[in-house]
Amino acid sequence: MKALILSGGKGTRLRPLTYSGAKQLVPVANRPILFYCIDNIVNAGIKDIGIIISPETGEEIKEAVGNGKQWDAKITYIPQDAPAGLAHAVKAARGFLKNSPFVMYLGDNLIGTDIKKFVGDFIKKKSDALILLKEVENPKQFGVAEVSGNGRIIRLIEKPENPPSNLALVGVYIFSFRIHKAIDRISPSKRGELEITDAIQELIYMGHHVKSSLLKTWWLDTGKKDDLLTANAIVLDEWGKKNIRGTVDKLSKVLGRVMLNKNSIIKASTIRGPVVIGENTVIENSFIGPHTSIGDDVRIINSSIEHSVIMNGSEVLDIERLEESLIGRRVKIVKNSRHKALRLMLGDDSVMEV
Ligand code: DAU
Repeated sequence: MKALILSGGKGTRLRPLTYSGAKQLVPVANRPILFYCIDNIVNAGIKDIGIIISPETGEEIKEAVGNGKQWDAKITYIPQDAPAGLAHAVKAARGFLKNSPFVMYLGDNLIGTDIKKFVGDFIKKKSDALILLKEVENPKQFGVAEVSGNGRIIRLIEKPENPPSNLALVGVYIFSFRIHKAIDRISPSKRGELEITDAIQELIYMGHHVKSSLLKTWWLDTGKKDDLLTANAIVLDEWGKKNIRGTVDKLSKVLGRVMLNKNSIIKASTIRGPVVIGENTVIENSFIGPHTSIGDDVRIINSSIEHSVIMNGSEVLDIERLEESLIGRRVKIVKNSRHKALRLMLGDDSVMEV
């Protein structure tokens, strides 16, 4: 079994957080989303992993993941010249996949379960495709499955105007070599992409075994940006551990599951987990509340922050209460008590609630 992670895609990024980068590298609990995909694949015993990259963000992905040594995996980078669809990406990977069965994992999807069981089911039932389905409130934004009473898939449609159900296709699929034949038989969709949803539908037309499993745990498509704070909170809740590698002075309290990385210092502050704090960060005379991720090289002084993500190199100074906020890299938030007026420098697409 091999794995193919799709980490290419369109230039429409997760604005404004990733003007300069790949959406698969946006951090959740201080780790790129893509790293959780690799963890899950490797935990299922798959070590031969291909990663689809685009000309735009490929170098950045390569730099972050490297040769896969930290997972003891073999990584092959596969360029896709244009974001022409998920099935087009599989086509680009044909030389890597050969006739092997494979897990296809979308690099911006996070799921709350390991995929080992699904891989086992796929092998046991000798299927040609196993798809995961999840009930959602907004099926129009996804691929949608129409399923009969006994769980048989009747039809799959990509981003339908009138969804026949609320069962969305999750971005994790398992395929046999037969998917390649199905992909050869489909044409681009209305939005001009070779859709994997259409290829799976084609497998059904061809009379092959397509099975589905209902995902019982959470699933977040972080490419839909409102999910990022939620993803951060869930990941900290589920996977956060207590691990203090930095320095905490005598005047500070660290409560619950707090991960404090090396060369970071907590002075006269209270940290209430689950919280993760990166390297070379200083927190002084402040309160950091649950579900907060703070990156590397951050300074938080005389401030209180909760349920937020503060990325690398940012500063929060004298801010009484910051909640449910997503702060990008190298941002400076300072209270200026001498002036009543706000003085701002906000990038495109920023949102500020005062
Ligand atoms: O997240 C689940 C949904 O993912 C499914 O319900 C849909 O059926 C499926 O089509 C897909 O829809 P999205 O519109 O969310 O896909 P998106 O264009 O965001 O691409 C998903 C990932 O694949 C993302 O990490 C970028 C990468 N990608 C995308 C395209 C179009 C590639 O690597 N190459 C591509 O050509």
